[in-house]
Amino acid sequence: MQTLQTKYAGLTLRNPIIIGSSGLTNTVDKIKELERAGAGAVVLKSLFEEQILMQSEHLLKEAESYPEAYDYVREYVKSNDIKSYIDLISDAKKYTSIPIIASINCYEKGSWADFAQRIEFAGADAIEINILKISTDIEEKPGEYEQLHIDILKEVKSKVKIPVTLKLGQRFSNIVGVVNQLKANQVDGVVLFNRFYQPDIDIHKMQFTSGTVFSCSSDFSNTIRWIGIVSGKVPNLNLAASTGIHEPETVIKAILAGASAVEICSILYQHGNGIISQMLTVLEEWMTEHGFSSIDAFKGILNFKNVPDQSYYERVQFMKYFSNRD
Ligand SMILES: Cc1cc2nc3c(=O)[nH]c(=O)nc-3n(C[C@H](O)[C@H](O)[C@H](O)COP(=O)(O)O)c2cc1C
Repeated sequence: MQTLQTKYAGLTLRNPIIIGSSGLTNTVDKIKELERAGAGAVVLKSLFEEQILMQSEHLLKEAESYPEAYDYVREYVKSNDIKSYIDLISDAKKYTSIPIIASINCYEKGSWADFAQRIEFAGADAIEINILKISTDIEEKPGEYEQLHIDILKEVKSKVKIPVTLKLGQRFSNIVGVVNQLKANQVDGVVLFNRFYQPDIDIHKMQFTSGTVFSCSSDFSNTIRWIGIVSGKVPNLNLAASTGIHEPETVIKAILAGASAVEICSILYQHGNGIISQMLTVLEEWMTEHGFSSIDAFKGILNFKNVPDQSYYERVQFMKYFSNRD
């Protein structure tokens, strides 16, 4: 009998479609809708370190003239923002039955790691950590950015027992090495990749502006490259493919390359929840056509493990496609 069940980060998902962290998952009603539409799991909208700090700064300005109120306000704002997040987790757990993955978006080690404990107590099935740091410090040494990821993982792992996953950005000198280090430090799953904010410039107003918010399908080629390489090089680690998954066929490609699940976001904003059932139908039909009864039966069969020399492979592809072009 055919099943779409998959294991990801210690969780059993009814199918590999996870809804990525975003405004799509910031209320219980939206999560219920996503469950009805067929989602295998959801990652909640992130709790942002900056968001909490900015709000407390605003109120702190008002409390500035009352020194005795200053600390109180700071703690009040922090715990209230956290409280609504905690309520979202516990309500989502109460009213839905798919796994609920909480998300923390951070940029440094520190006090926020305590939030992880509260998230666990609220009943979240796992925590996804999104380290959104753009290194601009000229004194920062090569390797410090990578070490930050390891240190943050260790800190969160020391606080909670639920699975902890990391959603990585695309800018590492050696993604395979970083993922291998994360695995050595007990990461439960890795998401490749997060999509950073895209800046642009308005030449008429001559000012910075926001670039395209949503990904496009061509972004997937980078995702599939690294899912394929990492799953071949770092065995026995659950990967979720993310960024550029727009067509139903892409889900199949991601699993063939080695992903246990996919995280989708932009396509849902653009086309609505109906894409989830389309993806599941295409996946089921394809599995039937090719005689696969489970996700595990074809997961990773096209990863880079089967290529004798990966760098040679990359170079040959480059030579083949670009050297002969006039
Ligand atoms: C409108 C919007 C809001 C997002 N908010 C978050 C967020 O709060 N936390 C986070 O980790 N990722 C956030 N993301 C990133 C997505 O979860 C996802 O990693 C990224 O968009 C790549 O997937 P996609 O190509 O399917 O869109 C957001 C993306 C979009 C488009």
